[in-house]
This record gives sequence, C-alpha cells and structure tokens, in this order.
Amino acid sequence: MNITPSPRVAIIVVAAGSGTRLDAGGPKAFVGIDEHTMLRHALRGVFSAASAQVVIVAPSGREGEALTDAAEASAERHDMVTVVTGGVTRQASVAAGLAAVWPAVEIVLVHDAARALTPGSVFDRVVDAIDRTGWGVIPVLPVIDTIKRVDGARVTGVVDRSELAAAQTPQGFRRDVLETSYAVATTEYTDDAALVAAAGHQIASVEGDPLAFKITTPADLERARTLVAPHPIAPVRSSLDRSPRAPRVGVGTDVHGFSGEGTLWLAGLEWEGEPALAGHSDGDAVAHAIVDALLSAAGLGDIGTHFGTAQPEYAGAHADAFLARTAALLGEAGWAIGNVAVQVQASRPRFAARRAEAEARLSAALGGAAVSVSATTTDGLGFVGAGEGVQAFAVALLVPV
Ligand code: CTP
Ligand code: MG
Repeated sequence: MNITPSPRVAIIVVAAGSGTRLDAGGPKAFVGIDEHTMLRHALRGVFSAASAQVVIVAPSGREGEALTDAAEASAERHDMVTVVTGGVTRQASVAAGLAAVWPAVEIVLVHDAARALTPGSVFDRVVDAIDRTGWGVIPVLPVIDTIKRVDGARVTGVVDRSELAAAQTPQGFRRDVLETSYAVATTEYTDDAALVAAAGHQIASVEGDPLAFKITTPADLERARTLVAPHPIAPVRSSLDRSPRAPRVGVGTDVHGFSGEGTLWLAGLEWEGEPALAGHSDGDAVAHAIVDALLSAAGLGDIGTHFGTAQPEYAGAHADAFLARTAALLGEAGWAIGNVAVQVQASRPRFAARRAEAEARLSAALGGAAVSVSATTTDGLGFVGAGEGVQAFAVALLVPV
C-alpha cells in the first residue's frame, strides 16, 4: 500500500546564501561544523520536530548535496523532502520555497539553515502557538546586554531592555497569511515576521533557544564546533543506502581436484605427505569458500573479483594472505565479521586431529574472528568419495560497525 503523506505543516529551510561574512570559500550551509555540514545539522532539528513537509532551498548547483544531506538526516521521512533552487536574496529564496509547499499544508515555518543547532522543540513550540492564536509566531530571546542609543560616538540615551527581544527562526505563519504577504511585498524585509507584519498581520512570540543562534562569522562557527563536539550526529543510515546496515549473511563454496604440485594446503594448514590440490593459488578450498562467503555477505563480489588472475601476487599464496586482505576489504566497507562456519567434504586428509589448529589459523588470519571448521566424508560417493578432490561450504555473518 502506498500512503501519500499529506502533512499540515511545512518547514522551509533556507540554505541558499553565499556566506559572505563567514568567508569559508563556499556557500555557508555546506560548510562543515564537524564532518557534517551546517545544513545537515540544521536538518537534525527539523526532523526531530513533529512530521512536516521539508522544503530545502539550496544554492544553484548544490541541490544534489542538499538532497544527500536530507536523505541522511531523514531516514524514513525522505519522501517528505523537496529541494528547490534559491534566489539572490533571502526573501527570494523563501518565495521559491513557498512555491513548492504541498497543497494540503496549512502552516508554514521558515528556518535559516545557518541556525544549525536549533532543537526540534522550538519548531513544535512555534506550531503550537500558531494553532492557539492564529497569529504569526516567532521565537525570541530576551536581550541581555544593556542597549544604548548612540549618535556616532556620542551616547544619546538608554533603550528599555524589557521592550526588546532578539528574533530567531523558525518563524511560522498560517500558509494563506504568508502567501498573501509575500504576494504584496515590494521591498526587502529583515525577516519574515517583518514582511508579514507589514501586510497587516499580528505576530506573537514564544521562547527561543540559545542554541538557535545564527552562524554568521568565523567566531560563531567556532562556537558551534565547540557545542557540537560532545554531541556528534549518530551515524544514521540512509533509506537510499542500498546496503542497509542490518547484519548480513553470505555463502561460499569451492572445489579443487588433487592434481597440484607439492604438498597439500587446506584450511590454512600444510599437510605433509598428502597430495596437493590444484588451483590458481594453493587450491585451499576451505579458505576460498570462506573468502566467497565473506565477500558475498558484504556484496563485494567474489574471490575472482579481488584475487583473480589480474592479481598475480596471489598466485601460490596461502590462506593467510587471502583472508587478511578480505578482512581489510570488509573493514573499509564498514563491516566486522560476526562468525564464519565452514564445512569441508573430503575423504582425506583426516581433519579431526587438526581441527582446532585449523580454526585458530583461519581465525588469526581474519583478525581474530570466530571460525568453526567441520569435516565430513561422503560415504564413498561422488568425486569426493572417489578421492578426486575436496569441496567446502562456508557461511559468514557480518555486522555493521
Ligand atoms: N539565504 C538564502 N538565500 C539567500 C540568502 C540567504 O537562502 N539569497 C539563507 C542563508 O543560507 C541562511 C539564511 O538565509 O541560512 C540567513 O542568511 P545569512 O545568515 O545572511 O546567510 P548568508 O546570506 O549566506 O550570509 P552572508 O549574509 O554573510 O552572505
Ligand atoms: Mg545574508
């Protein structure tokens, strides 16, 4: 069943500014606070508020990055996200966002991506107040400093602090009010509340949040970095990610015939006096089945992808080299090995006496992962029974790290 979301609230996140005062060499919203952009942090607050359509207004050419940030931030809510291209001024950017608001939306919040650390509770507080009053609503903080009126260098008077408040975002409005106000605006206003008030509408305030400060200068960015460091964004797996981070199993098999040169290598061990298996490397079917199981669990192809004839350095290599390289590949892809179980079907050699040794060897090559080895004969049947070769079957479990 396909449920079309029809939220009554939309949040427009304006992120299309150039960040002249920050002067970080690129559009401000895409500057990193830590390894995540300002926009990505802003979206953490946006998506922790009650469910809403989210319209991100991005600079021209950066829409794809905005969508990536949104996909990462929203997980299951990314179908609620729209990205549009911004305008030359903030007001033009808001207007572009407003044009993309879905028909059923009744309340629109406008939020600066530059207020990257704004908690979700502020969004909910603004929506509640709009529902209660029907007015436009802005979050504010009391002004703490004593404010003076000046004329050049001369102080001409004191302004009563109790009459003042510092405005933040998200600023919220009834959708019809915001649309008609934007439609009649002919000059640039300092914020959306000023534009809406100029069109004759009432504005109320709710308590803002110190974390909703706007990152404007390099000093603001430093402050944001200090605040974020103890609370990094937990790795959120994108629902666009095609390898969802649940544990994954993989399967691998391998067969080699007894027609090699030298002594037998099997399960990472050398077996003196036993006939050798043939193969591009040492023919160790047990190790190769394990490699295939691990790679298949990670979706990283198979043994031929990584250790084929194109990698001549593995010709004649033993299990340790294959397994260590495989473990490294998995680590790079973000996987740890849960466990590996492998069964070998062979008439010879006799495994029982060296099973623990084989497990220890294979485990060590995989960086200490749990490996269990079992062995069986085939009651004289098939190529295994005829002593022509061995076959091995492995399963592996990977866990995300
Ligand atoms: N903004 C926007 N489109 C613009 C200008 C600003 O979407 N044409 C957004 C910014 O991305 C920011 C918010 O409006 O999230 C507040 O603007 P401001 O802090 O002034 O950001 P910038 O305009 O990018 O910075 P500066 O004024 O220093 O260039
Ligand atoms: Mg600006």
